Amino acid sequence: MGDTLIQFQDVTKRFKKSDKSAVKETSLGIEKGSFVTILGTSGSGKTTLLKMVNRLYEPTSGQIFIYGEDISSMKVTELRRKMGYVIQNTGLFPHMSIEENIAIVPKILKWDKKKINQRVDELLELVHLDPLQFRTRYPSQLSGGQQQRVGLARAMASDPEILLMDEPFGAIDAITRVSLQDELLQIQKKLNKTILFVTHDIDEALKLGDQLIVMDEGIVQQYGRPIDIILQPANEFVSKLVQSNNAFQLLGLLKAEDVMIPIENQGELARLSIENEWLVDKGESLKHVLNILLEVDKEQVIVVDESQEIQGIVTFEQLKLNKKEIAAAVSE
Ligand SMILES: Nc1ncnc2c1ncn2[C@@H]1O[C@H](COP(=O)(O)OP(=O)(O)OP(=O)(O)O)[C@@H](O)[C@H]1O
Ligand SMILES: [Mg+2]
Repeated sequence: MGDTLIQFQDVTKRFKKSDKSAVKETSLGIEKGSFVTILGTSGSGKTTLLKMVNRLYEPTSGQIFIYGEDISSMKVTELRRKMGYVIQNTGLFPHMSIEENIAIVPKILKWDKKKINQRVDELLELVHLDPLQFRTRYPSQLSGGQQQRVGLARAMASDPEILLMDEPFGAIDAITRVSLQDELLQIQKKLNKTILFVTHDIDEALKLGDQLIVMDEGIVQQYGRPIDIILQPANEFVSKLVQSNNAFQLLGLLKAEDVMIPIENQGELARLSIENEWLVDKGESLKHVLNILLEVDKEQVIVVDESQEIQGIVTFEQLKLNKKEIAAAVSE
């Protein structure tokens, strides 16, 4: 277990004139460095939960702690400096150029010009926009996907530890969305941020999150690893939400190393002629393995580690494993 970075303690939010709580008695901890996706239907309280973390909303009761410190006793400006915030329609200022938009927080922090300039370039490169081309443009001169990249760059300007993202890719076409997701995963790997990411797209939630929060009616229905939620949904609601594409989702979540038949001794290794065989990295998903098997019409692939040492094999037969067997393999 890592360090708990954000802790919700019996948090309830009830808006004025509303007879129902938008978020009800929620207690949960977010570990430092984790990528937590928050999934739920419209009106389930996802945005409300997120906005209480940067105090755009104050809880009606309960407390939220960051590194053990109650955020209600922190200065709002100081709290928000620890977290970047990205929303669906980016919130970029239309009258400011891209560089000015990204530099907002560094300017507030009174960084010197040179440092700000360097940071803007660095961030644009991080989100795959060429600084020479994009620095001086205005938001309206960018595509939706490019604007979203700038939104992310701006949120990361002062290198905050936490990123709060509310359906950031919601309005982006499917193909661009996938590349933005991949880039975000790369950024997370590289910079090890703690990310809270709201979405109502199940595939996005499963792909991005190493932890998943499922919400309904202001209540956290389940919180855990995507694989555990798919295999053991806590209740009817969760089960319905995740079952739509179950078998295929499982293949996306499991890695070759989770189910491979290990090669344990030299004799076995010698018998396994790797000529004409396909090698896959042990961290690749079973979806990827299945793709290969179908494409090259093979019965098995060879699983290798980072140094290309053979670890085992995954056979076509194994991908037909039923849910129970996979559950057993994962919980080992
Ligand atoms: N500022 C507000 N004032 C009053 N009620 C609000 C306010 N913000 C949200 N609510 C109510 O709180 C509940 C939860 O809303 P919230 O925005 O958190 O849902 P959500 O899960 O983010 O939904 P969506 O997927 O549509 O964005 C809803 O019933 C909503 O009407
Ligand atoms: Mg919302």
